[in-house]
Amino acid sequence: MTLGTIEQVRRLVTELPGPKSRELANRRKAAVSRAVSVGLELYIDRAEGAILVDVDGNHLIDLGSGIAVASVGHADPNVVAAVTGQVARFTHTCFMVTPYAGYVELCEKLAELTPGSHEKRSALFNSGAEAVENAVKIARAHTGRTAVIAFDHAYHGRTNLTMALTAKVQPYKQGFGPFAPEVYRVPMAYPYRWPTGPENCAEEAFAEFTSRVHVQVGEENVAAVLVEPIQGEGGFIVPAPGFLARIAAWCTEHGIVFIADEIQTGFCRTGNWFACESEGIVPDLITTAKALGGGLPVAAVTGRAEMMDAPVVGGLGGTYGGNPVSCAAALAAIQTMTDASLVDRARRIGTELEARLGQLAAEFPQIGEVRGRGAMMAIEIVRPGADKTPDAVLAKAVLAGCARRGLVVLGCGTYGNVIRLLPPLVIDFGLLTDAMDILAESLAEAVG
Ligand SMILES: Cc1ncc(COP(=O)(O)O)c(C=O)c1O
Repeated sequence: MTLGTIEQVRRLVTELPGPKSRELANRRKAAVSRAVSVGLELYIDRAEGAILVDVDGNHLIDLGSGIAVASVGHADPNVVAAVTGQVARFTHTCFMVTPYAGYVELCEKLAELTPGSHEKRSALFNSGAEAVENAVKIARAHTGRTAVIAFDHAYHGRTNLTMALTAKVQPYKQGFGPFAPEVYRVPMAYPYRWPTGPENCAEEAFAEFTSRVHVQVGEENVAAVLVEPIQGEGGFIVPAPGFLARIAAWCTEHGIVFIADEIQTGFCRTGNWFACESEGIVPDLITTAKALGGGLPVAAVTGRAEMMDAPVVGGLGGTYGGNPVSCAAALAAIQTMTDASLVDRARRIGTELEARLGQLAAEFPQIGEVRGRGAMMAIEIVRPGADKTPDAVLAKAVLAGCARRGLVVLGCGTYGNVIRLLPPLVIDFGLLTDAMDILAESLAEAVG
């Protein structure tokens, strides 16, 4: 299939990385902080649909979507036209100084698309972390309380407050403390690793949650519970069915704000507009970013009007938050999601991936679990046996094999042993099959 100008096929014309990428890699080392790590030293020149073209002319399959951003595909024509048009009209005024329609329209769209028919408001920001920080500010302003409950394996960003909310130390928190106070961590209902088995997971995890909060924090001190409906960086952990609904109901009972961080799961990725829908949950506040902007930086907090309006006038904002170009891109990306029925496409991708990954799991005992939903699927790599010992070394070898063959896939997980698939939702199914063949080949090679 050819979308526009870039044919949607994998084609390698040099070894990977090619000479131009290698030269840029050397320049990177001399100019860019080593703390900003790079997964693959393949420098991208152009991209379209699910194909990245590197500076050496190699066509690579993108199953990472720039970490769940390019859901509408790279260079989506709607996004390109909207951004180009907006850049020519004006690029910045600062919404807080002299506003513009795009910001208002995007907030109207967010109210329409997010779960629940209650009255809603939104505020726009630049990054996911900023949205999460602001959701916490809003919850504190609304409740007059300070404590925030976060989960094991959570990832919410790299700013000071979101580092505190993020679970994993290496590399996100290492050497960066002290962290923001009033963040309390509770176990996630992680079925695959629940000590007494997945069948007990939801109930026992909920009991543990309520007990810890009651004893260690006190319900009356809790402003918010913050949770990813499917955990992203932590390893695509799908909470045991029913766990989140219980937490949400418990929050309502105690006047606590339930914040769903849908920054990675939102906007069609899991086969619904939002992952909360699969559990029938209506969050009080929802944070979004990534796919929302169709590749441009924009993030949002959307939620109940009385909560969103609780902070003092002028209490939320920022110079670039809801930049006009990003708003135009987001509105166009949402249009594409609707026109191209990307919710349905994500489900179809999920069916294909689940079937293929299931076959691989039957063949390779190193695949401990296949999990996820829609176009957010992963395999957890372990040493074969009952211990389920995470095997990050093998996972890395598989990722390296994929990279050598021109497939961009990402790892994740608290133990670094999860391979996650996040294809652009517009991906051609032939290309997806090619990608899965490469994954199978790389797995076979790494297992040896
Ligand atoms: C669930 C979740 N929350 C927050 C963030 C932070 O977003 P950003 O990197 O845009 O700050 C991420 C990023 O991966 C995420 O997956």
